[in-house]
Amino acid sequence: MSKKIVILNGSPRKTGNTSALVKAFTKGAKSAGNSVIEFFLDSMNIHGCKGCFGGHSSKEYPCVQKDDMDKIYPAVKECDVIVLATPLYYWNMSGQIRTAIDRLFALEEGDGNLLRGHDRTSALLMAAEGHGFDDVLLYYDHLMEHLRWKNLGHVLAGGNEDIGDIEGKPEIQKAFELGKSIQ
Ligand SMILES: Cc1cc2nc3c(=O)[nH]c(=O)nc-3n(C[C@H](O)[C@H](O)[C@H](O)COP(=O)(O)O)c2cc1C
Repeated sequence: MSKKIVILNGSPRKTGNTSALVKAFTKGAKSAGNSVIEFFLDSMNIHGCKGCFGGHSSKEYPCVQKDDMDKIYPAVKECDVIVLATPLYYWNMSGQIRTAIDRLFALEEGDGNLLRGHDRTSALLMAAEGHGFDDVLLYYDHLMEHLRWKNLGHVLAGGNEDIGDIEGKPEIQKAFELGKSIQ
C-alpha cells in the first residue's frame, strides 16, 4: 500500500549533500508508488518553541504561534512516514530541523496526542564532513523511543563538505533504496 511521506529537510543548501540524499530518497519512494512532501525548512518562517505548554493537538493549527509550521502540522498529522534530513552541525542536527522538531510538540499537547505512535515510521538522512554521528544517533534513538515511531533506517554520508562532494557516492544509491523499500 502506498504511504504518505513527509520529509523535513534541515539543510540551508538547496543543492547540497543532504538535498542530494533527499532527491535520491524521493526518487526511490515515488518509484514504489508513495507520495512525498518535502519541506525545505531554511526557506520557511519557523520560530523557536516558546515553552508555553499552550498547544492544542485537536485544533487544525495546534500551536499558539502562527507561522509556517501551520503548513507542516496538517501534513504530519496525516502522514505515515517522517524523514529527518539534515547536515551534521556540531555533532547534532541543524538548528533549522531542531527548531521544527520542538514545534511538533504542539501535536502532543491538549486533548489527544497526534504525534506519538499512530503506526508512524521514520528514517534519517545525514551528510557531514567527518564521521562523528554517534551523538546524533543517540538523540535520534531517544526521539524514536519517545515518539514510538519505528526506525526504517539511516543513511549517514560522511566525508562530504562542499556542495557536490556526495555525487556518485554509494550513499546516494542507499538513499534511493531506502526510499524504494517503503511500501
Ligand atoms: C555550522 C556547521 C557545523 C558543522 N559541524 C560539523 C560537525 O560537527 N561534524 C562534521 O563532520 N561536519 C560538520 N560540518 C560540515 C557539514 O556537515 C558538511 O559540510 C555537510 O556536507 C553539509 O551538508 P549540506 O551540503 O546538506 O549543507 C559543519 C558545517 C557547518 C556549516
